[in-house]
Amino acid sequence: MAKTVKLAPINRETAIATNDNLLSGLLKNELKVLQECGGRGMCATCHVYIKAGMESLSPLSRREQRTLGAITTCNVNSRLACQARVLDEGVIVELPSGMYVSDMQDIEALIGRRAEQNILHPLTGTVLVEAGKLITRSMITQLEETRVKASQYLTAESEF
Ligand code: FES
Repeated sequence: MAKTVKLAPINRETAIATNDNLLSGLLKNELKVLQECGGRGMCATCHVYIKAGMESLSPLSRREQRTLGAITTCNVNSRLACQARVLDEGVIVELPSGMYVSDMQDIEALIGRRAEQNILHPLTGTVLVEAGKLITRSMITQLEETRVKASQYLTAESEF
C-alpha cells in the first residue's frame, strides 16, 4: 500500500510505497537530490524538514542522528530523506533552500554570474556561496577542494 506525502516546495502530493524512503518520492518528482553519499545516511544533501507527520516516519537511526548532528541547519524537524521511511499518512516535506555542490562543470559555467540561490556544503549544509554573490574563480577552487574533502571523508567512513 502506498502513502501520500506532500512536497511543500512544489505544492505536489506524491505516493510513496509503505516502508519506502522519502528520497524515492523526491526523485520521482524530479527534485534534484545530489545524494553525495549514495543514500547511506552520511551527508547533508538529502536533508529535509518535516512540516507535519514526523510520527508517520520510521524512527531515527544512530547513524542518521550522528549525521544530523553535524548539519548546521539541522533542527528538531530535520530528517535525512534516504533514511526516513514512510509508515503512515500525513507527512509534509519541506526542503532547505539552496543547492549543493554537484557537477563542477555546471558550477564553472557560473563564474562571473551571481549565485541564484545559496550553494551549500555537501556534508554540513553550511552556505559556501550566498545567493546574490558574484561567483569567482577562487570560489570555484574552494568548492572543488570542498568536494574532494567530502568524497575523501565518505570513502574513509565507508571503510568502517
Ligand atoms: S544521500 Fe547522503 S545522507 Fe541521504
